Amino acid sequence: MIVGGVPLRPLVAAPERDAVVVIDQRALPHRLRFERLTSAQDVHTAIRDMWLRGAPLIGAAAAYGLALQARADASDAAMEAAAAQLLSARPTAVNLAWALQRMRRHLLALPQELRARAAWDEAGAIAEEDVRVNAAIGRHGLPLLQAVAARKVGPVNVLTHCNAGWLATVDRGTATAPIYQAHAAGVAVHVWVDETRPRNQGASLTAWELGQAGVPHTVIADNAGGHLMQHGQVDLAIVGCDRVSAHGDVCNKIGTYLKALAARDNGVPFYVAMPTSTLDQSVTDGVAGIAIEERSAREVTHVAGRTAAGEVVEVQLVPDGSPAANPAFDVTPARLVTALITEHGLIAATPEAIALLGAAAP
Ligand code: MRU
Repeated sequence: MIVGGVPLRPLVAAPERDAVVVIDQRALPHRLRFERLTSAQDVHTAIRDMWLRGAPLIGAAAAYGLALQARADASDAAMEAAAAQLLSARPTAVNLAWALQRMRRHLLALPQELRARAAWDEAGAIAEEDVRVNAAIGRHGLPLLQAVAARKVGPVNVLTHCNAGWLATVDRGTATAPIYQAHAAGVAVHVWVDETRPRNQGASLTAWELGQAGVPHTVIADNAGGHLMQHGQVDLAIVGCDRVSAHGDVCNKIGTYLKALAARDNGVPFYVAMPTSTLDQSVTDGVAGIAIEERSAREVTHVAGRTAAGEVVEVQLVPDGSPAANPAFDVTPARLVTALITEHGLIAATPEAIALLGAAAP
């Protein structure tokens, strides 16, 4: 991704192999701030406190967290303790568990003295794989936008929710990959960006990165999507995911389910961009089987923004004493998903198609 003429990634491994440098997403869109993480503990804090977020990115970051641990102490006990701590940072996105499991399998089979080098290499492999996977999702999703462009006058209107863009991955994004690919191919595309309360990942992050890439977009209140669909202003929806069950139920940022319902009622195709690393074959019924992260009530009761004077401040929205609840994700049943856009192509959100995909997974 190019920001202000400079190629950037939300997570970059230091060539000295002693740190990762990450974009602190809490500061966006008002400031582009970087943090240097030098230990597994630092990485744990950065994931837990959402300096970096998004399912594929936290998987790659956790892999580097274990690599930093291997540098400090690569004993079985230290590696297992670090892996357990990293895993506890965020509960819902399965990529975190997937990456840690891949690292553990690879490293614990090696003699201790070889682990630090191997860990850094494997974390790098996970990160580069994510970029390739997202490029493939972009290639497979592109024809969906081209098909709409071929039959209408005016831009292809895509609705997206949360941030499943390059900031949520090592590069390119998942849901945004087909959009960036279409934009690069000269397809006129316009994105409806759900603000995505309570943390506003759409308004703060997706809008920022689409702006950097020069992709036309409009931020909308979360409640506007159904109305726009009813009036023919959404051609397709593409969202990301944090965990997909073996039966095709999609766990993603809270509010995704409501958009899928509105899309179904209005005949709008609803696509989910899904790297295979987001598949959780241990869960069949996603609604019953996926534990949903409950985040701080303060994310609902307060909101941060920039004043006219340029100062970033937080203000309270609700009456003193009003309690708030904050489930961070919801599950869209497979029946509402038109197709999953994976690195291997479009597949149906059905147990049969997903079983084939799972069999092809590394
Ligand atoms: O709570 P967050 O911001 O980490 O949630 C992120 C999302 O829900 C994304 O849309 C999802 O992880 C897909 S990322 C490609």
